[in-house]
Amino acid sequence: MKIFITGASGHIGAAVTDELLAAGHGVIGLARSESSAKALADKGVEVVQGDLDDTDLLREQAVASDGVIHLAFKHELMRTGEYLGAIDADMRAITALADGLRNSDKPFVGTSGSLALAGTGLDPATEDVELPAGPRVDAENFVIGLADSGVRSSVVRLAPTVHSDLDHHGFVPTLIEFARQHGHSAYIGDGANRWPAVHTLDAARLYRLAVESAPGGSRLHGVAESGIAFRDIAEAIGKGLGVSAISVGPDEAEKYLGFLKDFAGFDNPTSSELTQQRLGWRPTGAGLLDDIAAGHYFAAAL
Ligand SMILES: NC(=O)c1ccc[n+]([C@@H]2O[C@H](COP(=O)([O-])OP(=O)(O)OC[C@H]3O[C@@H](n4cnc5c(N)ncnc54)[C@H](OP(=O)(O)O)[C@@H]3O)[C@@H](O)[C@H]2O)c1
Repeated sequence: MKIFITGASGHIGAAVTDELLAAGHGVIGLARSESSAKALADKGVEVVQGDLDDTDLLREQAVASDGVIHLAFKHELMRTGEYLGAIDADMRAITALADGLRNSDKPFVGTSGSLALAGTGLDPATEDVELPAGPRVDAENFVIGLADSGVRSSVVRLAPTVHSDLDHHGFVPTLIEFARQHGHSAYIGDGANRWPAVHTLDAARLYRLAVESAPGGSRLHGVAESGIAFRDIAEAIGKGLGVSAISVGPDEAEKYLGFLKDFAGFDNPTSSELTQQRLGWRPTGAGLLDDIAAGHYFAAAL
């Protein structure tokens, strides 16, 4: 298949691109900068230069490809506090891609996050949980709904920590940077709340399996470890940096955890049993705490 990937130059997109190329697929990658275009071209990717806001371009590429994987997201906007602006741009891009895929039976793999499931209180939350509305959830539901319009659509709900030595600006490096700045690695309250995790290369394999064979309307969980206590994550980061892990109250969370203050206290146990059964996906990468202990996250400043 010839797959159009948005975000092909990003942390996860680059790994998905490598995974698809290794499996013999062709990749068309969206690149907004010369440096991203060069990195993709050097791998043998067919490059389309443009921005996520170029909706006509996205539609055309969806028509021209055999399927779409959507991974681009305006994280820069999110980090400046404009999360809803990034969400709106994401929805416009998805709508354009969908317009190019309707009644084609082609696959469209979208991206969401497991953190949205934290509010359900389920232990663990499973793939069959459908949320009514919310940031990223609206996009997830829209993509799933395309299964009724002749699109073999699926959505990967990623763990908040997609980790490996390929991860340079995800939540783990961000937590490390905050801990470096403050001289403490913080968790909220007793830190018993859990975050799931997945290794980047396992996530990449899941995207390949999804684009190749996920049935239309599949919610998939990109989760290898169902829940690691946030305190353990903070302690592993503290150990790597040589600083202490400390408990902070909700009123201090912003100081120590920046924009992650809203998520760091979430209890988000998440299962991927159904994903593994349905797609034959078997995560094999290192666990999050071992990956942090391996030291690569501390080798370079952000
Ligand atoms: N990493 C995680 O732990 C994690 C967890 C849960 C969910 N997710 C989601 O998974 C997806 C991929 O994440 P990631 O970690 O791979 O992100 P990333 O490393 O920040 O990569 C983002 C990609 O989007 C592209 N992009 C950003 N703004 C763009 C624009 N305006 N026009 C065109 N392309 C644009 C970037 O291009 P450039 O190369 O030009 O910057 C890059 O290829 C995102 O939806 C993210 O929210 C990630």
